[in-house]
Amino acid sequence: MEKFIIRGGNRLYGRVRIKGAKNSVLPLLAGALLTDEKVTLHDCPDISDVRYMLEILKSLGVSVGRTGDDISVWGGVRNGNIPEALAKEIRSSVFLMGSLVGKHGRARVAYPGGCDIGLRPIDVHVKALRELNINIDEQSGYINCSSDEIRGADVQLDKISVGATENAIMAAVLAKGRTTIRNAAKEPEIADLADMLNKMGAKIRGAGGAVVTIDGVESLSGCEHTPIPDRIVAGTLMTAVGMTGGEIELENVVPEHLSAISSKLVESACKVRAFCDRITVSGNGKSKAVDIETSPYPAFPTDMQAQLMALDAVSEGTGIIVENIFETRFKHVPDLRRMGADITVRGDVAVVRGVEKLYGAEVCASDLRGGSALVLAGLRAEGTTVVGGVKHIDRGYEKLDEILSLLGAEIQRKNMNE
Ligand code: UD1
Repeated sequence: MEKFIIRGGNRLYGRVRIKGAKNSVLPLLAGALLTDEKVTLHDCPDISDVRYMLEILKSLGVSVGRTGDDISVWGGVRNGNIPEALAKEIRSSVFLMGSLVGKHGRARVAYPGGCDIGLRPIDVHVKALRELNINIDEQSGYINCSSDEIRGADVQLDKISVGATENAIMAAVLAKGRTTIRNAAKEPEIADLADMLNKMGAKIRGAGGAVVTIDGVESLSGCEHTPIPDRIVAGTLMTAVGMTGGEIELENVVPEHLSAISSKLVESACKVRAFCDRITVSGNGKSKAVDIETSPYPAFPTDMQAQLMALDAVSEGTGIIVENIFETRFKHVPDLRRMGADITVRGDVAVVRGVEKLYGAEVCASDLRGGSALVLAGLRAEGTTVVGGVKHIDRGYEKLDEILSLLGAEIQRKNMNE
């Protein structure tokens, strides 16, 4: 069991290069199964969600190779069953429904796992796939998908869902005829998936907007693709500087993808300058509390809510945080309170009254982004903070401890079994 031991109080200075986005790489790996030819993804982070996804692909009989940050998959699927033990580890196993049934006409997927941040149903995915003439039955924890012929259709998503949009796209690229997905999610990772699939020969238009049109093609070929940079890793490091003070430059970012986050940091008194694929953030450790309401892209992302709450906790004034996407995404609150934060939660609203100081304490991450918020709080707190549940943080941040150390933080990873 690994923990982070953090001695707070250091400002952060330096430069970090951001790697490909977890939320792109996972669906891109699912999309790679739509061809038997080789697909190579560059610049992939070495995080446990990606490792689990690669294990799932191997269990399907797909050949997988990793050299440094490059991942290649080839040879196609030999068995369409995703083992329960692996599917429970990551929610992204759900994307495999669309690509497996799209390519092979059938898929059997154990009900997906992932972060414990709410119910996370899959009804929108199921309804979209059914509209494409895919039969789906859910039986004792497994979802069985099958179709003799996937047919293009008008698919109206009842709710804006990133995963359901991606799943419907993947199920539709090899379908007969045209599919139009309406009320699609607009996250940049969806446009990234469409870019890769189009390189492979798909005909997708409008991805990244609310209406996506897909003209089915006969087959797809291999390709090489570099995923977009991880806007949540970038946003987390930017917020860290807002809390500790200092100045960092992030390389390989798309400033436009970060605009909702940057604008909140500016409102909280950070300086943010963007130039081409770089962003510089600086601050003096004195911030003003900001109000946040999470909503689908391009609004403020739910995946940054916990980190901004940590910032508000040490800011001047009171910030109101409304979480509109996931029901139980305030699990970091009791631990922030243990460190001295003044936060009251009622339903999906948190009221954060800024305090002068946080104090080091023993806390435990129970989900990925909530865990990163506890690390940020530890960087700012007086004394030593011990963050348990590091495996949740490792799902989406590659060596967060090493990156923060290089920026000047005092943070160590310790195996508590030693
Ligand atoms: C993706 C991201 C995750 C991010 C989330 C919201 C990946 C791998 N993960 O997750 O980091 O926090 O988008 O930006 O890209 N919903 C339903 N029924 C469904 C599907 C979703 O009710 O069938 C609900 C969810 O419970 C949630 C909301 O819709 O309340 C949005 O979820 P969705 O966009 O689907 O999130 P994910 O794709 O799982």
